[in-house]
Amino acid sequence: MTTSVLYPPNPSVNRSNLPPGPPELPIVGQSFRYVRDPIGIMQESATYGDLVTMSVKPALVYLVNHPELIRELFVVNHQSVGRGRNIEALKYLMGDGLVTADGPLHLRQRRLMQPQFHHRRIAGYGEVMTAYALRHEPRWQDGARVDMAQEMSDLTLHIVVKTLFGLDLSDEVRRIGAAFELSNDYVTARGNQPRRLRALCHRLPLPFTRRFRRGLAFLDQTVYSLIEQRRQSGVDSNDLLSLLLQVRDDEADRPEDAVMTDRQVRDEVITLFAAGHETTAVALTWTWYLLAAHPGIQTRFHDELDGALAGRPPTLDDLPNLTFTEKILTESMRLYPPIWTTGRMAFQPFELGGYPIPAGAMLAAPPLITHRDPRWFDDPLEFQPDRWTPEFREGLHRFAYFPFGGGPRLCIGEGFAWMEAKLLLATLGQRWRVRHDPRHAVKLLPLVSLRPQGGMPMYLERRH
Ligand code: HEM
Repeated sequence: MTTSVLYPPNPSVNRSNLPPGPPELPIVGQSFRYVRDPIGIMQESATYGDLVTMSVKPALVYLVNHPELIRELFVVNHQSVGRGRNIEALKYLMGDGLVTADGPLHLRQRRLMQPQFHHRRIAGYGEVMTAYALRHEPRWQDGARVDMAQEMSDLTLHIVVKTLFGLDLSDEVRRIGAAFELSNDYVTARGNQPRRLRALCHRLPLPFTRRFRRGLAFLDQTVYSLIEQRRQSGVDSNDLLSLLLQVRDDEADRPEDAVMTDRQVRDEVITLFAAGHETTAVALTWTWYLLAAHPGIQTRFHDELDGALAGRPPTLDDLPNLTFTEKILTESMRLYPPIWTTGRMAFQPFELGGYPIPAGAMLAAPPLITHRDPRWFDDPLEFQPDRWTPEFREGLHRFAYFPFGGGPRLCIGEGFAWMEAKLLLATLGQRWRVRHDPRHAVKLLPLVSLRPQGGMPMYLERRH
């Protein structure tokens, strides 16, 4: 393989100290290819090594492809890296919530919020999840063609609105969902723009910006009025919003700093909403797709459900018995990790894989690449849930499979997501078989989450 010469924007980088990378165009580097086909360029770059550079102007991106280097980045060097410029556009929506915060603020919020995600605390949401799947299911008809991406998005939207805010009126849910959808589109579009242009577009009264601001004002108004109601009534509604309002920081210097401000609570619930809704919907959509593409595996999935549940709806207590269902989800998130790439910015220089990483460098660790690496997974493009034996897991590097990230920024909602994905899959799988629409070509749409382009049309068959 040839080693390209890269021209880093940061003059402190000594070119001879750079990891290899694919050949690139003068001046623009890989920028256009990256915008057009980020997965393609990452896949190609990965063939140059475990630590690779590619120039996505104005940044030089270090692509980290080896589980041990990913561990060094996420765990060993976590204090040298953070979100930085990666997520400026996300802040328009999330403010300083867990996803976007860095440094001491991130550590404090994580310390305060972690106990609220303990499995004992979230166990009660299991009933909501199954109940909502049962409530959704009568919309389905035998032989109907549905967009499974939309179906899963609707279902997880209702669940997140209920578990976060305690709301379940359809009209409210729809309005909140629409405002989020618009905000998501906006921050994705702005996130792809160069920095100065983004800041300008965000300031100017452009139609898209104005629509975003209106949607955001509606979300803020909804969240702040819920916060006020809860603070005034003092009633614990058992939703995540109530749990956040009860948090007390024992390490605060002053009593007034021991509770989260309204603004911080707002940022956190909006963050949880944005981080938790789309990801689980995407995981489920790809899982239905893979089940449809592998009828033998779908039959074994149904056999497990019939044997373990004997026709009654699943509860949390059933989950340990649904081992094949868990393997199906694990394998599905290997092939289609909902967060297909994760990013960091170097806040101070450090060393990775024998190379100096300068302050300001951008780093990407894409689960999609590592999860499909033949060094860790035989026949990596095959859907093989049976590969996930306890022995296989034991021998696998912790960061060869990391759909939920790792280190201090490990997904705080991992337990919530597993519970939701298993319960929804089991509840719906008990009653329905899915078939893919052969006229629809499945393509990846790598936004923040890995969506199927043009949705996921599928045929439903009622099971007898
Ligand atoms: C299948 C579903 C999900 C997947 C695949 C997923 C994946 C991830 C990943 C990869 C990260 C780390 C990103 C990084 O290191 O840069 C992350 C962080 C996060 N996730 Fe999830 N997530 C899922 C569901 C959820 C749910 C249900 C919630 C909330 C209820 C949630 C809330 C968060 C938050 C707040 C963070 C930021 C944590 C921090 O930086 O401290 N996620 N998620």
